[in-house]
Amino acid sequence: MSSDVENKAIGEKIDPYTVVAFGHGARMCPGRRLAEQEIFLALIQLVKSYKMELAHPGKVVGQVMRLNMMPDTPLAIVFIPH
Ligand code: HEM
Repeated sequence: MSSDVENKAIGEKIDPYTVVAFGHGARMCPGRRLAEQEIFLALIQLVKSYKMELAHPGKVVGQVMRLNMMPDTPLAIVFIPH
């Protein structure tokens, strides 16, 4: 049986270990949903207030697993107030 879960919105299989910042299994963080809600609210404020653009659009960026999947090189983002 596959360990992948399906993202029903887009019909794609997603590796369940893509996000492990909150741990995994029986002892995983019980504050995960609360923390995620707070992060989403903060991101909403950012998106409402700023247009975001890559500072170096042509730069090739890979992925690396460090607790979370993250860019393998610093990603400079320009925040332009709306
Ligand atoms: C960005 C925010 C947070 C991150 C990244 C985070 C991450 C983690 C991680 C990695 C663990 C260990 C899981 C494991 O052993 O597998 C943990 C445990 C725990 N977290 Fe969080 N956490 C966050 C926010 C919160 C919040 C907001 C609360 C409470 C309101 C909370 C309450 C707990 C508790 C009580 C445990 C212990 C669970 C246990 O040992 O059974 N965390 N957290």
